[in-house]
Amino acid sequence: MSDFTNSIEIIRLEALAAIAEAAEAEGLEKIRVEFLGAKGRLTDLARKVGSLPAELKPSAGQAVNQAKETVAAAHRDRLAAIAAQKKRGELLDITLPGRKPHPGHRHIIYRTMTEICDVFAKLGFSIVEGPEVETDYYNFEALNFPADHPSRDMQDTFFVGDKLLLRTHTSPVQIRTMESTKPPVWIVAPGKTFRRDDDISHSPMFHQVEGLVVDYGITMADLKGILTAFATSFFSPDTKIRLRPSFFPFTEPSAEVDIACVLCRGQGCRLCKGTGWLEILGSGMVDPALYQFVGYDPGQVSGFAFGMGVERVAMLKYGLSNIHDLYDGDLRFLGQF
Ligand code: DAH
Repeated sequence: MSDFTNSIEIIRLEALAAIAEAAEAEGLEKIRVEFLGAKGRLTDLARKVGSLPAELKPSAGQAVNQAKETVAAAHRDRLAAIAAQKKRGELLDITLPGRKPHPGHRHIIYRTMTEICDVFAKLGFSIVEGPEVETDYYNFEALNFPADHPSRDMQDTFFVGDKLLLRTHTSPVQIRTMESTKPPVWIVAPGKTFRRDDDISHSPMFHQVEGLVVDYGITMADLKGILTAFATSFFSPDTKIRLRPSFFPFTEPSAEVDIACVLCRGQGCRLCKGTGWLEILGSGMVDPALYQFVGYDPGQVSGFAFGMGVERVAMLKYGLSNIHDLYDGDLRFLGQF
């Protein structure tokens, strides 16, 4: 290597090192002028190529040009990097509060169902579950809905086979529990239920909590006492309830249970349609006909049952008007609970 190409190499390395160390655009510009400017060190060398012996000119010229290109490219890259870094710095405001992690939480329906079950658990009830795909026998037959009887019209059913269906209520768990346990029975059965219904207050899939008590000497006073305890614990301590005569094939007598309107407290308003009362569940004394299906002795035991819609009580408790808001998965809505 000639002295000339040697000095090109030294200046090239000096330039690259200086560029790599430059932290600001102004410093970088000084380096550019020092090496590539009109009086720069590499420009100076390029000018000297003309006075070299003829045989050295081509290779020396090529070496200088290459060095100038390499340094110019390094300068360009470093300038871009400094600009990008500056922009990042402008975007970073260290006085902003940190971003909170978004941990999520249980769905309002699941939470309401758990809350309902917790109230009954404190009253001594056990929590049991049953299958969502049921047989005709447990969903209807053994609950005293005979085949082809008009009482079945109350529950528009999704059939999945000849005698197989999506349960229309959680009441089949009553039969399954009595079949497998001897009295006394104190259970609640939460879960999903399905009906061919779809409007502002009905969804094809919804949730219920079933209750069943069968014991010695149970009367309707026990039914009213337990449901009063539930209503005052779940809604508010001064909640009043009333029983209204009704009909269900599996209870006799049957009663619809209302609570005093959560909004107007019984005065009458839009929510309670002027009645002062809101229906929250169906209930009644277990029809002795059921005991024959499960082998209990109606002369020995008696009981009561009830079934409530989870969506319904959640909507009353939280003042919601459209059941579908619960299922649309909009986090702005669900995040409120
Ligand atoms: N299974 C009824 C329904 O879904 C609700 C019901 C009413 C359940 C009375 C009961 C009861 O256990 O005793 O419409």
